[in-house]
Amino acid sequence: KQILLPQTDFKDKNILITAGPTREWIDPVRYISNPSSGKMGYALAQAAIERGAKVTLVSGPVTIDKPKGLYHFTSVETANEMYETVMTNLSPQDIIIKTAAVSDYRPKDKFENKVKKDKVNTNLELISNPDILYTIGKNKKEHQFVVGFAAETNNIIEEGMKKLIKKQLDLIVVNDIQSDDAGFQSDTNIVTLIDKNKNIREVPKVTKATLSHIILDEIVKIQKG
Ligand code: CTP
Ligand code: CA
Repeated sequence: KQILLPQTDFKDKNILITAGPTREWIDPVRYISNPSSGKMGYALAQAAIERGAKVTLVSGPVTIDKPKGLYHFTSVETANEMYETVMTNLSPQDIIIKTAAVSDYRPKDKFENKVKKDKVNTNLELISNPDILYTIGKNKKEHQFVVGFAAETNNIIEEGMKKLIKKQLDLIVVNDIQSDDAGFQSDTNIVTLIDKNKNIREVPKVTKATLSHIILDEIVKIQKG
């Protein structure tokens, strides 16, 4: 008789995961966002919990259920809120995984009242949001392992490699959002993994649950060296 034991290779590891989109408000009824569903980050959180990790999930607005067994959960809306929450929770983390689709820009000013259509200035002024992952990579401690995600439509490997280096990541998961059954809303993904030693691994179409375990396996492998 086969007995299935829970995997515990992440026991006592603190893992911080960001997931979902951010919302950047224009006025009280309008915002800038993206179609991120949060599924990849939530699947990763679930997989890490199953393997014994203490998971802190920082999530933008999503409609899916929270994984069971989280150590800590914070829901945020804007990129600035995500930045603040991540920075506050960063120091005890061993592994940081940034699946969130953070808005690169936000409106310079949020209008206090709804902007009426005959008063709209069609030149919306935008300013940059903080690059959360860049800040984490730049300041990471010896024991911290940082994983980024990238959504690309072309030159997948080249663009992924650039981000890996610029943000000083240990691993990047590059998503080809042009291919079918991959990306924002899908239950499956087709990705390429690139590690800090420039090893490239193409992962065929798998569910986000399976991909989560593949990513965790890869982290274990890289950490063993
Ligand atoms: N990211 C972040 N903070 C931002 C923008 C992105 O932490 N303000 C993180 C994302 O969570 C992701 C990684 O950076 O893990 C790559 O995001 P992506 O949008 O692909 O890259 P950018 O650096 O924003 O470049 P671009 O949008 O021009 O491709
Ligand atoms: Ca971006």
